[in-house]
Amino acid sequence: MRQKIVAGNWKMNKTLVEAQSLTSEIANMVEDEAPSDVKVVIAPPSPFIYAVENLVPEMGQIVLAGQNCHQEDSGAFTGEVSAPMLKSLGAQYVILGHSERRQHFSETDEELVKKTDNALKNDLKVIFCCGEPLEIREANTQNEYVTKQLTNSLFHLSAEQFKNIVIAYEPIWAIGTGKTASSQQAQDMHKTIREHIDSKFGQEVADETSILYGGSCKPDNAKELFSQPDVDGGLIGGASLKSRDFTDIIKSF
Ligand code: G3P
Repeated sequence: MRQKIVAGNWKMNKTLVEAQSLTSEIANMVEDEAPSDVKVVIAPPSPFIYAVENLVPEMGQIVLAGQNCHQEDSGAFTGEVSAPMLKSLGAQYVILGHSERRQHFSETDEELVKKTDNALKNDLKVIFCCGEPLEIREANTQNEYVTKQLTNSLFHLSAEQFKNIVIAYEPIWAIGTGKTASSQQAQDMHKTIREHIDSKFGQEVADETSILYGGSCKPDNAKELFSQPDVDGGLIGGASLKSRDFTDIIKSF
């Protein structure tokens, strides 16, 4: 049975006190209301100045993720965050390849090979982001675009290594815009991604890979999105900063 996951990507938001109160609200709501079979991931701001012990110590079924990590374990990379740092703070996941990093920090497929390898080497699971810009969707070449992102950055891995990868499909035109992909659009792409994984790693690995949808996922559309056969949860931006909305999304399975 594939793992259901709802991950909150806080991006560059919240100060320490705000992060502590939001985490406390979410932890209490999740404990009281969330289905126990849904993994809840929170990705507070990097460079992860909020050491995990400053957040709510009792995180229950919530686990922590970084929003990025460097491809080296240490060195003269001012401002960067390393996989060992994330690991030392108790993070179990790291988000890699988010479209905002590809856009604003010129992150390349090749760089993401190194980041993925280094995250896995440090026993972090990877939430790997992919997704097409609006012009690619309008040209109806999104399938080729997205599968190429996966081939270029993940298909060097072994089947065993790939078991530590979660895929997050985030159509760029839906991120932060309020313009959510339709549940059919999401299902079509998730199915394409799963078939592409199958073509490389076989059906067992493909069937076990959690594929999350991201891009204006909200309480009022999460139920329909998560009801799709190849949608295993969501990577949530704006709505993850509101404890009620984030919890309602978690309850949408
Ligand atoms: O990583 C999740 C994020 O890109 C989606 O943002 O605000 O559209 O939910 P949002």
